[in-house]
Amino acid sequence: MSETSDPRVTPWQIDVSEFEEIESMHDQMQFLLRFAVLAPSSRNTQPWMFRIMPDGVDVYADYSRRLTTIDPDDRELLMSVGAAITNFRIAAAHFGFTASVRYHAQPEHDLVASVTVCETCLPDPHLSSLFAAIPKRHTNRLIFDHKPIDPQAWSRVCDVLERFPETFNVVLPDEKHQAAELIDYAERVQMTRPALRAEMADWIRPDDGLHTDGIPAEVFGVPRFLASGASWFVRQFEVGAWHGPRDRRLADSASQLLIVCADDDRVSLLQAGEALEHLLLTITDAGLQYSFLNQAIEVKSLRERVKMLADSKTPAQLLIRIGTALPVDQMTPRRTVNSVIAPTDHS
Ligand SMILES: Cc1cc2nc3c(=O)[nH]c(=O)nc-3n(C[C@H](O)[C@H](O)[C@H](O)COP(=O)(O)O)c2cc1C
Repeated sequence: MSETSDPRVTPWQIDVSEFEEIESMHDQMQFLLRFAVLAPSSRNTQPWMFRIMPDGVDVYADYSRRLTTIDPDDRELLMSVGAAITNFRIAAAHFGFTASVRYHAQPEHDLVASVTVCETCLPDPHLSSLFAAIPKRHTNRLIFDHKPIDPQAWSRVCDVLERFPETFNVVLPDEKHQAAELIDYAERVQMTRPALRAEMADWIRPDDGLHTDGIPAEVFGVPRFLASGASWFVRQFEVGAWHGPRDRRLADSASQLLIVCADDDRVSLLQAGEALEHLLLTITDAGLQYSFLNQAIEVKSLRERVKMLADSKTPAQLLIRIGTALPVDQMTPRRTVNSVIAPTDHS
C-alpha cells in the first residue's frame, strides 16, 4: 500500500491552501469537516456523522459505533462527538467563519447538534489560535519523564481550566498517589471481565495501515512484530496483573492529573467533550503530552471515589494525565470525510 492512501497518514496531511480554490459553501463545509474527523474519540471509534446544510452542518452521534460494555451510557461517545464539534469550530474560525452551536437534547434522536456558520472578518481569535495544533495532537500512552511542567506552558493550560471551571478539576498533589492506586485497582477489575476485554480487543488493530478506525497496537508500545497478536492476547488473557501496575506507573510519571466532570445528560456531555478538545489542543500547542486513564470512572462502583478526588459536585467523566515526554509521532487512522457525511435530504 502506498503511503498516500494510508488511513493513518493521509487524513492528517491537509493542504490548507486548497480552501482558497473552493467555491461552494457545501464544499467549504466538507473541507472544514476534514479537521473535525481528526478529533480524539474513545477507542478511535469515531462515533460521528455529519450532514451538510445550507448554513452549516448537522452533527449526529453514530450509535452503531457504541462501546456497549466499556461505555454503556454513551458518555465517552458523546464527549467524542463534542470534541469533533470543537475541531469544526476551530477550523471554521481559521477560515473566517463564526460558528454557533445549537444542541438537540431529545435522547430518541441521533441528531445531537446543529452548527451554523456565518462569514466574518472577526473570527474568534482564541479558536483560530488552536488551528495549527489540530493535526499535531496525538494521545501519548508512554511513560512521562516525571519532570515538573514549565510554568509558562502550565499557565496556558490554566487559562483553559479557568475558562471551564465547572468541567476541569486538578487532582491535588497529596492525592495523586491515591488516584494512581485507584487506576491500578480499576484496571485489574476491568480485566477480569471477558466481555470488556473482548470489546477492547475488537478495537485493537494490527499495524497494517488497512483499518480506518480503532487503535493500532503500536501506540500501546507493542513492538511491531507482535502487533498482529495483540488483539487476540487481550481477548484471551486476564492481563490485569500486568496492565494495572503499568497504568499506575503512567499516572505516577505524570506531572498533573486532571478530572473532567459534567452532568450525565447529552448536552452536558457534548459540552464537556468540546471543552476537552480545547484543553488537549492547548496542551499540544504548549509542547506538553497527555493521555487518558479512565478505568476508575468506567468501573461503576469506583466512579464516586473519583468524583471525591475531583472535589466536584458533578460526576466524573474522564481522568487525564498531563506531563512532559518525547512526543509520539504515530498517527491513528481516520475514516475518510466522505464516509461520515450523510446525504442531504434532497440529494
Ligand atoms: C472521550 C474519550 C475517552 C477516551 N478514553 C481513553 C481511554 O480510556 N484510554 C486510552 O488509552 N485512550 C482514551 N482515549 C483516547 C483515544 O483512544 C484516542 O483519541 C484515539 O485512539 C485516537 O487517537 P489520537 O487521540 O492519537 O488521535 C479517549 C478519547 C476520548 C475522546
